[in-house]
Amino acid sequence: MSGDRDAFRAPIGTRDVLAPESDRWQALVAAFAGRANRAGFGMLVTPVFENIEVVQKLGSTTDVVRKELYDFEDKGGRRLALRADGTASVARAFVQHRPVLPWKVWYVAPNFRYERPQKGRYRQHWQVGVEVLGVEDPTVDVEVIALASGFYRELGLERYRLSVNSMGDAESRAAYRDVLVSYWRDNAAALGDELERAEANPLRILDSKRTDWAELIDGAPKVGDYLTSTSADQFVQVQDGLRALGIDFVVEPRLVRGLDYYTGTTFEFASEALDAAQNAIGGGGRYDRLAEDMGGPATPGIGFGIGIERVLIACDAEGVFAAGDRGLDAFVVDLVGGTEPLVIVEELRSAGLAVDRAYGARAMKRQFAAADKSGARFGLILGAKELDAGLVGVKDLESGEQVEVPRGEIVAWLQSRKDDTSR
Ligand code: HAM
Repeated sequence: MSGDRDAFRAPIGTRDVLAPESDRWQALVAAFAGRANRAGFGMLVTPVFENIEVVQKLGSTTDVVRKELYDFEDKGGRRLALRADGTASVARAFVQHRPVLPWKVWYVAPNFRYERPQKGRYRQHWQVGVEVLGVEDPTVDVEVIALASGFYRELGLERYRLSVNSMGDAESRAAYRDVLVSYWRDNAAALGDELERAEANPLRILDSKRTDWAELIDGAPKVGDYLTSTSADQFVQVQDGLRALGIDFVVEPRLVRGLDYYTGTTFEFASEALDAAQNAIGGGGRYDRLAEDMGGPATPGIGFGIGIERVLIACDAEGVFAAGDRGLDAFVVDLVGGTEPLVIVEELRSAGLAVDRAYGARAMKRQFAAADKSGARFGLILGAKELDAGLVGVKDLESGEQVEVPRGEIVAWLQSRKDDTSR
């Protein structure tokens, strides 16, 4: 740490989210929660750290596990890691609690990966996501993809592409793995030091962004050619379902995704408004072996994670989902001090009105400036003369029009304006 000034800054690759940006977060999470709830998902909250074995299930050959884990030993000597995604924790919670199937959960949580930070790539990033445990029917694959797609549309995004692929079942994967390993061995010279890794996890090379490998990767066998008839049938059903719902997609045979637990359907949403290196605004797929791999009963699973920071960058690039005002009904300008303004503000808030105020008996002009800035619909002016006469001054902050309302009627007066949606 170079000097004390750096000590008191957010760590590299992390960000504070202040209003009004945080207002957008709040709105985004609310939109996601509403959509997930309406589709029968319940919220799941899991710890931010897990036993390291849980997080390692993302795959021993993945970058996330090999290079990017935030792992540590606690004071009791336990090996722990900060969560790197939502899925491992959901699968762990499933194995632990054995909820009734199907188990449909949604989450919003931070994830930690020691990556090289840049715009849209952070060491702590947030995801909203869903997971469904216990459903084999490919209908659920379509529903899960439709949920993500509908969510992007709700935010106003249009310039993104959905890629889908199938990794096949265990049998398909084993067959594909073998041909892929032979292919990498045949091209050992091009792979150099990476051959060993390619042999350990032949799929990993396919999603490499190395430009000097582009041709090699292009020529590699495609997973689609090695699917068993069951896997191929399921993939066709997923595609038919997406078409029936009018969801555009491309089949991308190279889409293997960066984590090892995937089986069957995989998908990714890429924003065309972002740089290619971090244009994924969400992705997911099936992981039919993960629960069993963690010592639970064999249970299929599918879900996705959507990066909140990335989605908001994509929204900015498309000029959609701007921060709205917070919808204050009134801003109280306090010219009298004492407890009466305190009581009035509390009364208004208790009645369900959104109210902010100025503090410390500042000059009237500055209080009005604060009222204007707040975006509130009305300024309530609490002056000594008016209050003595049992009145409150009310100024429409848009039109500038000013009236006086009896103190005892102010709640009802503001409420009737709130209900008036003609504005
Ligand atoms: P993932 O593709 O690693 O999948 O991450 C999901 C999304 O999180 C990405 O599409 C991206 O929007 C965002 N994201 C990932 N890493 C970063 C980062 N370093 N900075 C900013 N945003 C990032 C998963 O995590 C799987 N758990 C998804 C899933 C759920 N699969 C099945 N169920």
